[in-house]
Amino acid sequence: MKLLVTGGAGFIGSNFIHYWLRAHPSDQIVNVDKLTYAGNPQNLEGLPAGHELVCEDICDADLEARMEGAEAVFHFAAESHVDRSIDSAEVFIRTNVLGTQRLLEAARRRRVSRFVLVSTDEVYGALGAAGECDEDAALRPNSPYAASKAAADLLARAYFKTHQFPVLVTRCCNNYGPYQHPEKMIPLMTTNALADIPLPVYGKGEQVREWIHAEDHCRALEAVYRRGQPGAVYNIGTAARLSNLELVQTILRLLDKPPSLIQFVADRPGHDFRYALDSAKARRELGWEPRISFETGLAKALAWYRENPSWVESARNDSYRKYYAERYENRDQHLKNL
Ligand code: TYD
Repeated sequence: MKLLVTGGAGFIGSNFIHYWLRAHPSDQIVNVDKLTYAGNPQNLEGLPAGHELVCEDICDADLEARMEGAEAVFHFAAESHVDRSIDSAEVFIRTNVLGTQRLLEAARRRRVSRFVLVSTDEVYGALGAAGECDEDAALRPNSPYAASKAAADLLARAYFKTHQFPVLVTRCCNNYGPYQHPEKMIPLMTTNALADIPLPVYGKGEQVREWIHAEDHCRALEAVYRRGQPGAVYNIGTAARLSNLELVQTILRLLDKPPSLIQFVADRPGHDFRYALDSAKARRELGWEPRISFETGLAKALAWYRENPSWVESARNDSYRKYYAERYENRDQHLKNL
């Protein structure tokens, strides 16, 4: 079988390709990836010959040609960092909205039999101290990133309703695991702690996120592909919910580093307080449930970053260092001035 995967050099996409070709070694995957700052060819090392990387932008590529003979599309390609979307939203609209529409249109013309869109729990917006969102909850995205993902999510719905095109949408909680770009919470805190650099916690660290190991997410995507109802949306969550401060404290404990490395810095504008998914539908209809407990998965992920210093080195390259300096330098000063 042949699959088209977009964004397969990124974090979740590369985990998915490794997962899929381990489980189905004779399948073929065409991986269309623009190799932006967030994509890393090292994420694809060790893959069998069934994987082919095509370095193209989904907004410009001849997607119908790329889909020739493909039975399914798994769409991961997206600009994904909330903080960057606050600085500059345009590329999020282009890749996440226009790119998704182009991909949906090409797949519809090609009569691809399943199109899995990887959306996010962030489309629901923020919850207060209690409650969970099921798939019927209103979409109230708060960041430009979340708004662009909600637009993509709704385009998928429109292609199903208008064209009966068999899309399936997943809204997953925060992922962690190997190959995640260090701008994101867990690899940022882990690689800083390993280098004995302060860990910048936004605000008071009271915000809550729900966490899933990328491998559990990949198994869910396969379950959605095989057993999901076309046109349906599935929340993919674990109920493993922690405040950011608890998470950072756990990382420091597991790495045997002192809590004095924690540094509270100015909060993210419009910072969503809490995400929490009701994932009963995926359990009920797909027979999926997470297998990796948060404690085991986090320890495994931290070990991966510790044991792969050359990957960490390549990810924390000059452009990352420049980004980091711009985002974090003087942020503590800014907090003192608030
Ligand atoms: P992130 O990994 O950016 O994911 P998202 O914002 O999409 O959930 O951030 C996860 C949480 O960690 C979020 O509440 C913001 C917080 N955070 C920090 O406190 N400090 C940081 O340096 C980063 C990157 C995130």
